[in-house]
Amino acid sequence: MAELIVVTRDGEEQTLAAAEGLSIMEVTRDGGIDELLALCGGCCSCATCHVYVDPGFADRLPPMSADENDLLDGSDHRNANSRLCCQIVMSEALSGLRVVIAPED
Ligand code: FES
Repeated sequence: MAELIVVTRDGEEQTLAAAEGLSIMEVTRDGGIDELLALCGGCCSCATCHVYVDPGFADRLPPMSADENDLLDGSDHRNANSRLCCQIVMSEALSGLRVVIAPED
């Protein structure tokens, strides 16, 4: 099974088993990390699942949609590695990906 590394807001790093087909938001939630509010349930309309992704995986990530880009623009904490993690579905190719949960807006 793929692995996902999640760094929480207090800097704690956890490695989670990540079933293929689940989004990073779902893997994080199912792994017991409750910092991502994910208010919209993963339909790309809330931006409360904001993370920073390891730039080394950039070429393996799905492209960002216009909606995701617009939502991220509303965050004070956006940077070049920002993504909404409900929009990234785990696969073997992403095993080892490290994401850092962004500060709350
Ligand atoms: S959970 Fe709402 S945009 Fe990701």
